[in-house]
Amino acid sequence: MPMLSCETNPPFMNTAATRSAQPVSYRSDSRLLFDDISVTDVRVRPASRVCSYSEWDPLEEVIVGRVDGACVPVWDSVLAATMPAQHMPFFTAEGGRRFPESILTRAARELDNFAAVLESEGITVRRPDSVDWSTAFQTPHFNQPAGLYAAMPRDFLLVVGDEIIESPMAWRSRYFEFRAYRKLLKEYFATGARWTAAPKPELSDELYHPAYDSRAANHSAITEFEPVFDAADFVRFGRDIFCQKSHVTNQFGIDWLRHHLGEEYRIHVLNFNDPKAMHIDATLVPLARGRLLLNAERAVALPQMFKNWEILFPPPPVIPDDHPLYFTSKWVSINVLSLNEEQVVVEEQERPLIEFLKNHGFKPIPLPFRNFMSLGGAFHCATVDVRRRGTLQDVFC
Ligand code: GLY
Repeated sequence: MPMLSCETNPPFMNTAATRSAQPVSYRSDSRLLFDDISVTDVRVRPASRVCSYSEWDPLEEVIVGRVDGACVPVWDSVLAATMPAQHMPFFTAEGGRRFPESILTRAARELDNFAAVLESEGITVRRPDSVDWSTAFQTPHFNQPAGLYAAMPRDFLLVVGDEIIESPMAWRSRYFEFRAYRKLLKEYFATGARWTAAPKPELSDELYHPAYDSRAANHSAITEFEPVFDAADFVRFGRDIFCQKSHVTNQFGIDWLRHHLGEEYRIHVLNFNDPKAMHIDATLVPLARGRLLLNAERAVALPQMFKNWEILFPPPPVIPDDHPLYFTSKWVSINVLSLNEEQVVVEEQERPLIEFLKNHGFKPIPLPFRNFMSLGGAFHCATVDVRRRGTLQDVFC
């Protein structure tokens, strides 16, 4: 197979008729009059600014999220399946209201600093629009008192080569999250990217197991009613993409992506010991070609194809018990961002992890991010790598 790179886009074939000045008319006997019209407008699609095949090729352009106006989602069965149980009182009391301003101010400061550091490394940083998430909304199937945020672009956008895909997310509060990204997506489209929105889900009651009890059930809180997935349940290794089924990603969603991407990519579904599964990037984190960070608490077995890879089991997180992590486990510590095969952005207080990475030859960039982590992710979740320098490769051969 030829090596794909986003600098060799095929020409656009625009089949819309380029009409001559004379309007096409129909004769009364219904036979068409054939006119001298050109039906093919051949334009060369510009080399796409969106182009990324792996999690470790050198990063050149990235979207960094925004915490402005973030609201607390209302407690429901999917939240109950995934969120730390001790924070249920917070969600039930605050659901639909804005996140406490003190958290947002500190998180925004950390995020802006992270963006500035990426820029100082020569990486182009783009940000989503500010949106007022406190607006209530209604569809034929549900009401929500508010949206959530645009803090975690990784959950919503999946970049595969020169294509940027909007995910059909399962949380009702995220139904209109695309609004924060549309300006950027139009711009990326205009500069050559392929832009796809997966089928918009209905998120009707049929998608959710009624009265799901996370303590008793050994299955996902969602059904196979329609395709849903969060992009953060997928991780890219060139032609091979690994994912997990979770409380926000169903088999139907994985199959949709598999059909959509076609034979050029192979999607593999992995199983982990994670009853609260939601997003693979605090479990399986490739740092470089042949080098993988794997959460030892959740690891079950990896496929044979990893047998020549170096599997690194990170030290446990050191986040104190009293630090509020409303959405995640402490393993958000390994939600790191690789800038290339050496440099990796890590939370500055995760000293055991920083030492561990140094001892394995990486160059950690420690940054403050604990306040941001309270909102449900770290450096990987807070970003989408729009462009990494590299080509589509078979990394397991
Ligand atoms: N959702 C990732 C974690 O809580 O570890």
